[in-house]
Amino acid sequence: ATQYLADWRPYPFEIAETRLTFHLAPRATRVLSQIDFRRTGAGDLVLDGVGLKTISVSIGGQPVVPQYLGDTLVIPDLPDAFTFQAEVEIDPEANTALEGLYLSGGMFCTQCEAQGFRHITWYPDRPDVMAPFRVTIHSDQPVLLSNGNPVSEGAGTAVWHDPWKKPAYLFALVAGDLRAVSDRFTTMSGQDVALNVWVRPGDEGRAGYAMESLIRSMRWDEQAYGREYDLSVFNIVAVDDFNMGAMENKGLNIFNSKLVLATAETATDGDYERIEGVIGHEYFHNWTGNRITCRDWFQLCLKEGLTVFRDQQFTSDMRSAAVKRIHDVQTLRARQFREDAGPLAHPPRPDHYQEINNFYTATVYEKGAEVIGMLKRLVGDDGYRTALDLYFDRHDGQACTIEDWIKVFEDATGRDLTQFKRWYTDAGTPRLSLSESWADGTLVLDFAQDIAPTPGQTDKPARVIPIAIGLIGPNGHEVLPTTVLEMTESRQSFRFDGLGARPVVSLLRGFSAPVTVTREITADEQALLLAHDTDPYARWQAGHDLALDALIARATGGEGGAEFNRALAGVLTDAKADPAFAALCLALPGEEEIATTIAARGGVPDPDAIHAARRALMAEIAASHEAALAALYDTMQTPNYQPDAEGSGRRSLRLACLAYLSQLDGGARADALFAAAGNMTERQGALEQLISAGRDADALAAFEAEFRDNRLVMDKWFMVQPLRAAPRQAVARARELAARPDFEWKNPNRFRALIAGLTSNHAGFHAADGSGYDFLAEWLMKLDAVNPQTTARMCSAFETLGRYDAGRRAKGRAALQRIAEMPGLSRNTSEMVTRILAGA
Ligand code: ARG
Ligand code: ZN
Repeated sequence: ATQYLADWRPYPFEIAETRLTFHLAPRATRVLSQIDFRRTGAGDLVLDGVGLKTISVSIGGQPVVPQYLGDTLVIPDLPDAFTFQAEVEIDPEANTALEGLYLSGGMFCTQCEAQGFRHITWYPDRPDVMAPFRVTIHSDQPVLLSNGNPVSEGAGTAVWHDPWKKPAYLFALVAGDLRAVSDRFTTMSGQDVALNVWVRPGDEGRAGYAMESLIRSMRWDEQAYGREYDLSVFNIVAVDDFNMGAMENKGLNIFNSKLVLATAETATDGDYERIEGVIGHEYFHNWTGNRITCRDWFQLCLKEGLTVFRDQQFTSDMRSAAVKRIHDVQTLRARQFREDAGPLAHPPRPDHYQEINNFYTATVYEKGAEVIGMLKRLVGDDGYRTALDLYFDRHDGQACTIEDWIKVFEDATGRDLTQFKRWYTDAGTPRLSLSESWADGTLVLDFAQDIAPTPGQTDKPARVIPIAIGLIGPNGHEVLPTTVLEMTESRQSFRFDGLGARPVVSLLRGFSAPVTVTREITADEQALLLAHDTDPYARWQAGHDLALDALIARATGGEGGAEFNRALAGVLTDAKADPAFAALCLALPGEEEIATTIAARGGVPDPDAIHAARRALMAEIAASHEAALAALYDTMQTPNYQPDAEGSGRRSLRLACLAYLSQLDGGARADALFAAAGNMTERQGALEQLISAGRDADALAAFEAEFRDNRLVMDKWFMVQPLRAAPRQAVARARELAARPDFEWKNPNRFRALIAGLTSNHAGFHAADGSGYDFLAEWLMKLDAVNPQTTARMCSAFETLGRYDAGRRAKGRAALQRIAEMPGLSRNTSEMVTRILAGA
């Protein structure tokens, strides 16, 4: 059934304390709950529970026989204060959905967001019901953890107390044979905190970077936001079977092991950066999510958008702000613009859903963060700081809404944010177009905005768009530094007088708003910006647009690329000064982005033509700049591996050069690098080139022999093959891999590695014969009965179907139909498939 934001009603009880006692056993865990309720409004007691074997229920010690209605238990006529007690039995071993209490490699662990707690016991499983928890765990596992502070530990028993009231989705329990990597942190007010990263025996040597990242996060949140940690211990646990990246349970963060474990030999620079970012993200949730939580799940972006924004700021401070911004823009375009342009489009704050787990999306997370970035730009750094201080002050301990958030900014800055709120409530990416006129030293910029209809929303009034611009004179000098234009109308003009010569507009500096841009600009003007813009994002974007236009021309039967090729000479000359930036400029737009842009301009993308066009341009560039590329490739070695911005920047440039050079040397350099590299970044980079070059057999065998026993590294092995295989071989390769006994498809990391490896191979997945669609549908149907959440998430590979030709669309629709008609299909997958079919 569909849930609506408009239907939210306050819960008629509050909870003074929740006491839980667990007797852990793989097949039959007993959970005893005692919940002290106090009435705050009229109504029955309604509790949520799914798949529970109820042993007993009592009120104030007297057994009662509740009514069971679907997945709820109802008790009418209750007094103003009472203790509800229940005993239930659950089966963690049978829990393959990884929601609630489950087993991962023999370890008990939990995932309760969004609605996992109802799989553990009867409870008001909604985020606006908050309580302090006292948890007793009985188990023969050596390490027993829950939220908050440890109260007592004895043989086979541990008691934990979390004094901070929290909703059930932040509950966590872990029991297993674990080893800690430990450290300590002294908070700004002098409180001592014990820090532990818990891993399996043998993995202790791989948790150091996670611990360093945690300490950096704790210090950063004190310095940047004045936020201090609030318990005597902070635990992080790495688990191998996990549906998402990580979870911010109070005082007991649980992580997908791929976001904790890293060594130079087994993790790439990208892995290290993600570990630092996600450790930060979950830690920052302690204030933005836990101390201040969401009133209901429609408000998810209240905590996620803000926490992503905070983790982005953290990474920019720890590494390179320019590189981080460009990475974030690339991710936003690749995932969120794609979502916003298709059948799954929804606002950052949706107003209805069937399955909330389907709304942990790029729109809620990444666009949610962009919206905060715009707000900060509009009110300024000081206004932002004042507003955030007020937010923490006013709402600590509460479950809040987007309206509360906006009100804080209005009260702190005196600004009317009525129009701004549309960014939260309206779906779709605004299209911003610019036309310019120039006469007698005056430049007039005429902007227009419009938003295409999205499912359920046809009329889209104008939004406030902060447009940061600069002006660059024809000689390359900046004649106007960054200035923010506030566009509030559908059409609006801005004039600049007293200019000597006609400048080039550096538009949307820092990507100041999540919009697409249409403008008339010549290739020479783009080259000028690429060479001279003072804003690193806008500089990169100028080169990127130049390459994108060339690739689109070539993929649609025309010509292009000469200007980009010429402009790269300058990039290569300057490359040593900022290798990471040069690497970003060298990387051609991906095939998916080319397809998206062709579709946005009204065309029908041809995946094979796009693939061929990109390969051909790469070969041309390689031939033009062979000497410079080869010299840089040799220079950018990093004998002492450090996963920091500088080292990873050098390696990214080296690998960008390798990608070009491999077009000329047939993979000879990649072969040598694969054999010699001492770090996974270069080994994986080399392996990817060898696969593209069709010269991968020996390397793949060597890689497998070396890493057979390392799950996380073998995930890479499963991912790169379908990802880098030639389009015509990709599906066959994926099928072969899926038939292997070590394709442990019930493990979400392994499943995603192989399946998303294929769906990210644009021309391979969109094979004209529909074989990619069939393969995906087959595996989604198989996984759905085991793990609906992961299945549903991966349905989004189909969301772009509507942009392709009739033949592909028909084959894709048929595959989706087969999923839709499968008996027993989960609510998760059913909602996704229905929404996609409605728009494809
Ligand atoms: N709150 C977590 C995070 O962003 C994500 C957990 C979502 N889990 C889920 N099953 N939907 O860090
Ligand atoms: Zn989060």
